[in-house]
This record gives sequence, structure tokens and C-alpha cells, in this order.
Amino acid sequence: MNDKTIKTPSSASQGFATRAIHKGYDPMSHQGALVPPLYMTSTFAFPDAKSGGDRFAGETEGYIYTRLGNPTQALLEDRLATLEGGEAALAMSSGIGAITSTLWSLVEPGDEIIADKTIYGCTFSYLQHGLKKFGIKVTHVDMSDPKNVADAISDNTRVVYFETPSNPNNGLVDIAAVSKIAHANDALVVVDNTYCTPYLQRPIEFGADFVVHSATKYLGGHGDLIAGAVIGKKEHIDHVRYFGLKDMTGAVISPMDAFLIMRGLKTLELRMDRHCASALQVAKQIEAHPAVAKVYYPGLKSFPQHALAKKQMDNFGGMISFELHGGVDAGIQFIDSLKLAICAVSLGDAETLVQHPASMTHSPYEPEEREKFGISEGLIRLSVGLETLSDIQEDIAFGLDTVAANISVSEQEKSTGQTANANSVEAKLASLAAS
Ligand SMILES: Cc1ncc(COP(=O)(O)O)c(C=O)c1O
Repeated sequence: MNDKTIKTPSSASQGFATRAIHKGYDPMSHQGALVPPLYMTSTFAFPDAKSGGDRFAGETEGYIYTRLGNPTQALLEDRLATLEGGEAALAMSSGIGAITSTLWSLVEPGDEIIADKTIYGCTFSYLQHGLKKFGIKVTHVDMSDPKNVADAISDNTRVVYFETPSNPNNGLVDIAAVSKIAHANDALVVVDNTYCTPYLQRPIEFGADFVVHSATKYLGGHGDLIAGAVIGKKEHIDHVRYFGLKDMTGAVISPMDAFLIMRGLKTLELRMDRHCASALQVAKQIEAHPAVAKVYYPGLKSFPQHALAKKQMDNFGGMISFELHGGVDAGIQFIDSLKLAICAVSLGDAETLVQHPASMTHSPYEPEEREKFGISEGLIRLSVGLETLSDIQEDIAFGLDTVAANISVSEQEKSTGQTANANSVEAKLASLAAS
């Protein structure tokens, strides 16, 4: 074996992409293998019985069993920690695995969690329909105004939880302001940073204690795995690893998925730049179309929290949501008319994905809960992919023109009292052009 050693470029002063590609790995310590080896093993051999006992007792270091740690997972965790600016990270089998393992580690019966009013549907369901069954009080407030957190917080509040931007309607929360309020009341702040990734926003820099991710999305980036992660102080992450994950959820990541996420991380910066650049153009296109009632994209000047977006995000992300004139029916028609964008949940993939939150990702909310928490029935969510921008825009234009044509046809029907003979898209577009 060539014993030439190379300096492992892993200093925290290096750039984001350099750390995402190199941190923590020296090929010369692994027979020159450029790509870190995949340790596809469930358990680890001990040299002898005493060494095994010592590892269990925490007296010596060394791997024991993959639910407690594995070298492939450990390298991914090292990279996620440096990218988010945390002391330590724990990779898990899903975003929900990461969220539940973290929260189970932090709360006891009688404690309270204050959560934003708009969050991913299954997180909402875990809090409202799950944790509540175990004597944990969960209060949802509108965190677009930090004062609402200050008004709701009490001595029992143990955790303040939010996404920013929130799924599905891109609402932002001022991380620094809410963290200050939480810490003044001895509560811990958990931020879901899935929409941004650490390339666009690092909540720990603004005071958050934990960052959670669905690594299924941009971190993996290729739509071929389900995974999650939590990042924070080492003491906190150890507690999530040895209690939340080990004993409560067992949400261990497969080494294969950890390996694939590291492959995804190598292009995270490039991909996010492209997602952001394309999404801004698509958001402007959507905003300018007459079929559209409202657009939610933090990069638009018309976005009510645009100033906050500029303060805490380095760019505005790849997710757009919007409402069409004509509500749910128009939304369904829009989705069904698209040829390039794929109707699917999830986000952050190379493919442009479109979905209807009320009937899909946010169906775990009861209809009255969606109304109360501001998730409108007609909302459409678009994850702008990495395809050629002009192709994405052509597809979106066709979808919006189709909706506009139908609105125009039904208005015509209303005014003439007749059923217009306008079933073909061409006829509808002709009618739009005429209107
Ligand atoms: C913001 C957010 N957090 C968490 C999750 C859950 O992640 P997973 O599906 O990887 O369990 C999702 C899934 O869509 C999400 O969008």
C-alpha cells in the first residue's frame, strides 16, 4: 500500500462545497479509495470478550452495532455537523424518524411544545394526534409574529418547534427573535431546515438548538432514498442517539442510504444554486399570469416576509406555492394538464414535482384544522427541478393557460347561459386569446 499521506482538507474555514466533498476523509487511510467505503454491516467484531464489555461500558471507543453507530453513518454525520455549524449530528432513517427521536428525547408528560401553525402534515399529526396521547400539551401559534410565541410560552414549555420556510406555503419564522424568546423561558428551539438545507440557511447561527432534516429531499437530492438527520450540541445529540433513537424509535439509517446522501452532498451547492435560480424565474412567471390569485415565494418582492428572507436565508429556495382563481378544481386541472412536471409528493429532486397539499401531504390535518392553520384547499405546491428552465416554463405556461381558458369558458357559459363547445385545449386557448 502506498503510504503517502495527503492532508485531509477538513478545516472549518474551508468553503461549503469543499467540506461537503472532503470533510473527514483521507483516501490514503483507505487503500487510496477516492470514495469512502460503504460499511454494509449490522454488527462489529470485538477482538475478545473483555474488549466487547469495555465498549458497552463506554470505557473504550469502537463500533458495536449499527443502530448505535457505523463508520459510513459517522462520516455523513461529521459532514452534516460541519455544514450546519453544529457540534454533532445524527443521521436517521427518515425525517419523521429524526423529528420523533428528537422530541421523544426532550419531553415528558406535563411538558408543553409550542409549534408553528403550519408545518408538514405528518409532523403535525405526530404532535397533535400522537404526542398529545402521552400527556404532552401541544399548542400551535402563528409564528410569523414572534410576539405570539411570547404570549403563548409558559413555565411548562420545553420545546419551540417550527419550519422556515414552512411546508406547504413558505411562511417564514424569525429564527433569532423566536430563539431569544424561547431561551429566556428555558425552552429549546428545534428548526426543520428541510426546505433550505444548510447551503441556504443555518438556524444554529441564529440561535436554534437543534436542526432537523428530511434528508429524503435536497440533501439526498435524487429521489432514491428516505432519510433524516438532527444536528446540535454534542451532549444533546448523544442523548437523542442513546435514548431517542436507541430506545424509543429505532429509526436507524441504512449505511447504504448514508453513502448515497454523501454522494448527494457533493453536488448540493451546485444543485441548490440551480433550484434557486430556476424557481425565482418560475415564481415571477406564475405571479404575472392572470389565472393566478396568490403566489408564495420568499424571493418575490411582493412576498410579505421578503425582508426576513433576505436576513436569514442566503437564497430563496426551490419551492413555490400558489393559488389559482377557480380554487381546487382549477388546481387539479392545472396539475393534470402538465406534461413535464410530475404529480408526486416529496420535493428537492432533479424532477419538477407538483402536488395538492390539502388532499396529499397535508391530508393528515382535518379539514377544519387546515382552515384554522391557513392551508387553503386550492393551494398547489411546486418543487422546481433541475431540468432546462425553458422547458419547465413552457410546461407551467401551458398549465396556467389551460386553467385560464377554462375560467374564461365557464364565465362565457355563465353570461350566455349555454354550454360552450370548448372541450379541446386548443379551443380553450383560443377562447383565452379572445378574452
Ligand atoms: C418539511 C418536512 N419535514 C419533514 C418531513 C418528513 O420527512 P420524511 O418523509 O423523510 O420522513 C417532510 C416530508 O415531506 C417535510 O417536507
